[in-house]
Amino acid sequence: MASDRPRVLSGIQPTAGSFHLGNYLGAVRQWVALQESHDAFYMVVDLHAITVPQDPKELRANTRLAAAQLLAAGLDPQRCTLFVQSHVPEHAQLAWVMNCLTGFGEASRMTQFKDKASRHGADRASVGLFTYPVLQVADILLYQADQVPVGEDQRQHVELTRDLAERFNGRFGDTFTVPQPYILKETAKIFDLQDPSIKMSKSASTPKGVVSLLDEPKATAKKVKSAVTDTGSEIVYDAENKPGVSNLLSIYSTLTGTGIAELEQKYTGKGYGALKTDLAEVMVDFVTPFRDRTQQYLDDPETLDQILAKGAEKARAVAAETLAETYDKVGFVPAKH
Ligand code: TRP
Repeated sequence: MASDRPRVLSGIQPTAGSFHLGNYLGAVRQWVALQESHDAFYMVVDLHAITVPQDPKELRANTRLAAAQLLAAGLDPQRCTLFVQSHVPEHAQLAWVMNCLTGFGEASRMTQFKDKASRHGADRASVGLFTYPVLQVADILLYQADQVPVGEDQRQHVELTRDLAERFNGRFGDTFTVPQPYILKETAKIFDLQDPSIKMSKSASTPKGVVSLLDEPKATAKKVKSAVTDTGSEIVYDAENKPGVSNLLSIYSTLTGTGIAELEQKYTGKGYGALKTDLAEVMVDFVTPFRDRTQQYLDDPETLDQILAKGAEKARAVAAETLAETYDKVGFVPAKH
């Protein structure tokens, strides 16, 4: 693997079930692009998933499902390292060391924790949820990642990673690369098809407003055709006054690479119906092969598990080295073999 390329590392929770169009265009598609220019490590973060209660069967199924969808989306195990977090025990091991370096108050200031804890009720929030960001720090530092491609909501966790890397380096000598956030610009913000004032998201949106990539293609076509549009009939991009049509235009543009202006021209004098019919077709052409490829991996779990085993092996080679150096710097007596 070319190691002169900058290294990126990112993770995705295995709790989402089917990816939706927003996930895909916001993050996964950019992960796929980064494997061409970077030394990329991507993982399914099952350790993070159990910070809130999980059904074991569902967790196992969703972990394989997330990996299958990442592969279906174009991650190529020859070009990147794709693995499951729990397959690399060094994550939990380094997290312990990082926990001991993190201030209680510092951890208490993490806004995602505060949000989630208030949602679950402070008494029911686990200590694991509290130290979630520290595990993420370990994820990143183990691989000496230069950049961390994440959404804006994860910026604070990357800042914590930088702080802890610098703290460790300062106290014990240079050990960790201090990573940069690589905030994924929302190339196009994708909104709910039924309520274009909110972002397309599993938790916030209505089922009819979210395009799940694993839905029956027919159901997807139907969702597009029944998307909310605006008063008037002209097809122009105007996010303020025509949020529905603008959303459809940006989805169309992002999926096909056609500029918005070009689309506006193409639909001059045509009605919303024409745009929706065409976009439904574009969407069906996109989801059909994605769904088929995902299904192929799910139908052959042995092959899928083998891909993940190889990924874990590559990941471990890097992680074990970093952990050994960390243990040594901290002052642990080396275990003789
Ligand atoms: N917390 C991230 C999220 O919810 C997932 C994650 C876990 C992650 N470990 C990571 C992202 C390491 C980047 C790097 O999106």
